[in-house]
Amino acid sequence: MTEPQISIRDLCVDYITDAGDVRAVNNVSFDIGKGEVFGLAGESGCGKSTVAFSLMRLHKPPAYISHGEIFFDGHGDLLKKSDDAMSRFRWKEVSMVFQSAMNALNPVLTMEEQFCDVIMRHTSFTRDQAKRRAEGLLEIVDIHPSRLSDYPHQFSGGMRQRLVIAIALALNPKMIIMDEPTTALDVVVQREILQKIYALKEEFGFSILFITHDLSLMVEFSDRIGIMYAGELIEVAPSKQILTTPFHPYTEGLGSSFPPLTGPKTKLTGIPGSPLNLFDIPKGCRFQARCGKTQPSCFTQQTELKLIEPGRLSNCHLFTAQSIKG
Ligand SMILES: Nc1ncnc2c1ncn2[C@@H]1O[C@H](COP(=O)(O)OP(=O)(O)OP(=O)(O)O)[C@@H](O)[C@H]1O
Ligand SMILES: [Mg+2]
Repeated sequence: MTEPQISIRDLCVDYITDAGDVRAVNNVSFDIGKGEVFGLAGESGCGKSTVAFSLMRLHKPPAYISHGEIFFDGHGDLLKKSDDAMSRFRWKEVSMVFQSAMNALNPVLTMEEQFCDVIMRHTSFTRDQAKRRAEGLLEIVDIHPSRLSDYPHQFSGGMRQRLVIAIALALNPKMIIMDEPTTALDVVVQREILQKIYALKEEFGFSILFITHDLSLMVEFSDRIGIMYAGELIEVAPSKQILTTPFHPYTEGLGSSFPPLTGPKTKLTGIPGSPLNLFDIPKGCRFQARCGKTQPSCFTQQTELKLIEPGRLSNCHLFTAQSIKG
């Protein structure tokens, strides 16, 4: 990994609910290098979006960050910044393409108004300068600048997605969070957009936190992948290795839930059981009830993400931490 752009340490996020507090993200730590694409995967409800929102401090009650540190290159701990400092930081340093990007555009404003609003709020640009910047951004995502006067409904779904990406690029951020950026699109458009994002990343050098349910797309477009289960990060590995040699039985199960891109057809087995109820966390490993490889320690000993091999982390009890010799 290159020098870290962001370092997340022991992040915990809780939701206050009528049934009591629930910890949706528990002690999550990872780094994203400068210019790196880091994929975050795991089944629905495991906490991916909650982590993503934390990096921009976008949580609103009932969610709150109860513990942790988020160091962003040159900015110190984001969790210690004032709200004002954080609103100056957002979009300029880190921007986000939301999970519901298709609905992220305001239907009653033209694209020009929406672009100029973001640009002028964070820079000292005049309206004319902001408009010229917006025209340049449209060109970057292959939409003719004359379309700036159109409303969102006048664009196709794929174009709207590219508009949202263009807005995320507006202030040349150092990192972009993409939470399911292409889920609602057909597979051909999806791939085109991801290729475009990848080319832009190569050109501008930003880092990406990439969240998707599509593991094969994630393997293709990410440098490293982190797997989450029930609010915890359970494995981190280079993307090429995560499905070929998984170090956690859950990752193995995820891999066997997806057809391989190449080679002969295989039987898809998936993962038995259902996601953990966060109100009823067992002692020991959170995956124990669904794991076919448990040993006694899995029911008694707390798990911890540990270095197993250079560049490879897992919290599974089946692996012991690498003894790092000085
Ligand atoms: N407003 C809320 N109140 C209470 N619990 C919440 C709230 N929002 C999310 N949660 C809980 O937090 C957990 C993590 O949710 P999150 O949206 O981060 O999951 P996710 O991994 O992004 O899922 P998906 O893949 O479906 O987008 C879930 O168990 C969810 O039920
Ligand atoms: Mg989500």
